[in-house]
Amino acid sequence: MGTREAIPRSEHRMVFGDWQTPTALAREVVALMRGRMPGAAAVLEPTCGQGTFLREAATAFPRAVLAGFDVNEGYVQAARACLPAERSRLRAADFFGVAWEAELAVLPEPLLILGNPPWVTSAALGAVRAGNLPEKRNARGRRGIDAKTGTSNFDISEWMISRLIAAARGRRFTLAMLCKATVARRVMEHAAAEGWCLAGEVRAIDAHRHFGASVDAALLVVSPGSEGRGEMRWPVYPSLGASNPGLRMGVVDGVACSDIDGYRRTESLQGRSMLEWRSGLKHDCAAVMELERKESGLVNRLGERVDVEEDWVHPLLKGSDLAKGQAVPRREVIVTQRRLGEDTESLRERAPRLWRYLEQHRGRFEARKSSVYRGQPPFAMFGVGEYSFSPYKVAICGLYKRLSFTLVEPIGGRAVMVDDTAYFLPCATREQAKALCEALNGPAAREFFEARVFWDAKRPIRKELLRSLSLDALLLVNRP
Ligand SMILES: C[S@@+](CC[C@H](N)C(=O)[O-])C[C@H]1O[C@@H](n2cnc3c(N)ncnc32)[C@H](O)[C@@H]1O
Repeated sequence: MGTREAIPRSEHRMVFGDWQTPTALAREVVALMRGRMPGAAAVLEPTCGQGTFLREAATAFPRAVLAGFDVNEGYVQAARACLPAERSRLRAADFFGVAWEAELAVLPEPLLILGNPPWVTSAALGAVRAGNLPEKRNARGRRGIDAKTGTSNFDISEWMISRLIAAARGRRFTLAMLCKATVARRVMEHAAAEGWCLAGEVRAIDAHRHFGASVDAALLVVSPGSEGRGEMRWPVYPSLGASNPGLRMGVVDGVACSDIDGYRRTESLQGRSMLEWRSGLKHDCAAVMELERKESGLVNRLGERVDVEEDWVHPLLKGSDLAKGQAVPRREVIVTQRRLGEDTESLRERAPRLWRYLEQHRGRFEARKSSVYRGQPPFAMFGVGEYSFSPYKVAICGLYKRLSFTLVEPIGGRAVMVDDTAYFLPCATREQAKALCEALNGPAAREFFEARVFWDAKRPIRKELLRSLSLDALLLVNRP
């Protein structure tokens, strides 16, 4: 507990993901769960805080045993004071130190595990050098998933929910927990990886209204499923009270997909392509590298006039331009290399004015934080290659909730670049780019991507998603 005592108060709330659930929301969740399991014999809230859920459960389940734990002693006392003493068992405890199998074993069935575990990621905790993480030994269960999904950052609530499900297996239980939508997906992936057969559903909640948080959140409900029922299909409802699910999410090859039925319908389009999706240019030095063409000439973001050899300057489409369907660049960009790692020293001779300009701003380049520039020549870029100079491109921005591909054409004989929020297919001819762009904007590709994309992700459109569609198969489908 040493690290915890050292945490300044301002960070305390963040470290413990301490956003207590408003009563109205807890009431709505409890009412929903009461409809599902009116005979719940025990209700457990594993990180109960001030006990909002337990208080609501005390009324909704008048005979159930009420069990609660929280790391904050003051909260536990406050919760205890509001609950009927004869059937409540509350204890201050660190989730990661609780023997959950033993705790569940003494609770009668059917058991409802309820609550709102802390919303904080291991990376955020790392940033403030705080604990509140499972011991490495206990976190090992996660490693397999990390290997599959390529991430070492995880929400501690994801770990907590998976831990509770593992402990409750073999029991008659239902778990209903508020969490980020991404956590619900990761729990489903974890269940699939472990071979757990779980019935589940996800109901969207308005996190902004209830918690002032701008994140997609949900109520995740899981219970033991019937073995041999095929792959898991968890309906996703647009709200707590909705009676019709939008889609059913599932897990394929260890990774969650947003619409398992759509996924299966479009599986024939899955596969490798001859063309490779590429990322746009990265330079992390917009003040110097990005220019605007004014009447007086080129001007950088610092407002300075820039006089450099124009062979090294290209029109630039930003991801935000692409998202708006805008194919006319508003900016230009200096491109210092033709391929990754290319020596830039030769610019001194080949482009002396550009070299002088870059030298003047050397400090800004050297201050770039990203490790991709480490050990690289001065003024190096990333995401650059012969493909960057292909005359035609079909491009899309990864950051926006918009499946719209743009045909990018050269301007004044110069290849147009896209920034590092975008992906593109390099094309040699206009005909090739036009055919691909039309096919990618067509209904077959849309259905394919819609079944796999999660719009709430920070970068919903990723290279792996784009690469999973076989362009060759798509062009066959789209052949007139
Ligand atoms: C999002 S709040 C929710 C509180 C309560 N369940 C509710 O819905 O109002 C998260 C709670 O988790 C508790 N918590 C954080 N880390 C914990 C840990 N390691 N063990 C037990 N409780 C923890 C916090 O003290 C806080 O009360």
